[in-house]
Amino acid sequence: MEMLGAKVIPAESGQKTLKEAVDEALAAWVQDADNTFYLLGSAVGPHPYPLMVREFQSVVGREAKKQVLEAEGRLPDYCIACVGGGSNAIGMFSEFIGDESVKLVGVEPSGRGLDYGQHAATLCLGEPGVMHGFNSYMLKDTEGEPAEVYSISAGLDYPSVGPEHSHLKDLGRAEYVHASDKEAVDAFFELSQMEGIIPALESSHALAHAMRIAPELDKDTIIVVNLSGRGDKDVAQIEQMVSEGKFELPKVRG
Ligand SMILES: Cc1ncc(COP(=O)(O)O)c(C=O)c1O
Repeated sequence: MEMLGAKVIPAESGQKTLKEAVDEALAAWVQDADNTFYLLGSAVGPHPYPLMVREFQSVVGREAKKQVLEAEGRLPDYCIACVGGGSNAIGMFSEFIGDESVKLVGVEPSGRGLDYGQHAATLCLGEPGVMHGFNSYMLKDTEGEPAEVYSISAGLDYPSVGPEHSHLKDLGRAEYVHASDKEAVDAFFELSQMEGIIPALESSHALAHAMRIAPELDKDTIIVVNLSGRGDKDVAQIEQMVSEGKFELPKVRG
């Protein structure tokens, strides 16, 4: 962003996560609304932001559908995407919502475990609540305020989620599950070694779930996994964690 001319100001409050960055950006906007244009990178926030972001991201679903029909001649059985605020997932899902045969699965981060503050599995473990101007599932502390959250992925540690995902969950149209840091890192290494594609740590959560269910499925089952980003940005973090003994580099496989 700086290379392209943006001035980047780090969020210094609270846990210094995405939630605090959104808090501070909203506060800056409110202070100077006449001269500020607020941009939001996920399918969260007050209307019409979730709708706008879904529409912009829906190109992912349209392209995926076109490509899978060309490659396989039929719709996939599963579409799997990681869920932080929910933009890559809703972009993918939106094109398949009307195709009842396609199972839509969102994967949230269970981080270090399911105890308070160790995860950000909002749809799996949260309850209805309002934050950042929208009503959705939310992880709360004992006072009803946004909970502390954690994930190995900076893009997934958010204590709420795009409202359309809450709706899909309540309708039963999409299923939401979770994957841990360890499962995501295993998937990160697996795809890097087997395909030469380094996935973002966020996307690795979706991959981890695909790898979890694939062995139980029929051989001709088609699973589309949304690789929402590249893992180049995560290589230094992985290297650091390996050097600190938090994760082991796997043996190179052919
Ligand atoms: C590569 C990547 N994937 C996924 C996400 C999660 O966001 P969302 O759930 O809005 O797609 C992020 C967030 O920063 C990200 O960087």
